Amino acid sequence: MGHAGRRIWIIGASAGIGAALARALAGQGAQLILSARDGDALEVLATECGGAQALPLDLGQPETLAAVVKRLALEAPLDAIICTAALYDPGRVADIDPAQAEAMVRVNILGMIEVARQCPPLLRDGGQLVLFGSVAGYIGLPGGQPYSATKAAVNNLAETLAVELAPRVDVRLVCPGFVQTRLTARNDFAMPAIITPEQAAEAVLRGMQRRGFEIHFPRRFTWVMKLVRALPYALSLRLLRRLG
Ligand SMILES: NC(=O)c1ccc[n+]([C@@H]2O[C@H](COP(=O)([O-])OP(=O)(O)OC[C@H]3O[C@@H](n4cnc5c(N)ncnc54)[C@H](OP(=O)(O)O)[C@@H]3O)[C@@H](O)[C@H]2O)c1
Repeated sequence: MGHAGRRIWIIGASAGIGAALARALAGQGAQLILSARDGDALEVLATECGGAQALPLDLGQPETLAAVVKRLALEAPLDAIICTAALYDPGRVADIDPAQAEAMVRVNILGMIEVARQCPPLLRDGGQLVLFGSVAGYIGLPGGQPYSATKAAVNNLAETLAVELAPRVDVRLVCPGFVQTRLTARNDFAMPAIITPEQAAEAVLRGMQRRGFEIHFPRRFTWVMKLVRALPYALSLRLLRRLG
């Protein structure tokens, strides 16, 4: 089995794709460290995952990340760190709640920067740093702000890290399309090509074992979004106006 015996830290493990990744990895025999804010959910999952370590933290409070990093630095090096943690509250720009926007920027961008800054020394040589961006960051989507902008920032951050940390760290960017989680449960529109968290986890784990910087899925949706992004603005914005 692909990830058997690997020591993997998942940040954002308490729900959604992160929890599905934890279950799939435990099934393959990986040793897991699970983090997110909800300590109770992590404990339940850790038991389910055969004695994984539950270490709660809040990416909105970098000192809580630093405390976990300090603790893990005393243990064996990690094979991979996967950060799925993010907040979601999309809408039209005119309707943005400034407090929500600030929280989203703090967790989705500054929190991810802290992960990128503090966590790589925990990895063994050749270890993987796997950051969750989104196809929502490919191009500004109508009704998708400020989430879409925070995901563009993560996509961009991962590109920089892939160069700066090479060759010691193998940086990967994950860009999912729609996945059925509590995050997308808030959407009131039809979500094309939506998949389950288990399907998403399978795609991520398969991608981590292949070469290639970006892990994107489902491809029938992500290739369309890549095409829209590649069009001249005169065409892509006209298309998006129809959507919005
Ligand atoms: N679902 C989709 O369709 C979709 C599409 C594209 C990209 N993505 C990306 O995929 C990732 C996972 O999404 P998901 O759908 O699985 O979302 P989810 O079900 O809401 O899970 C998000 C995870 O992040 C954790 N988290 C949130 N804020 C945190 C914080 N301040 N500190 C630490 N952990 C925090 C949550 O745990 P706690 O609440 O316990 O902290 C939870 O474990 C996200 O980065 C998202 O942007 C999702």
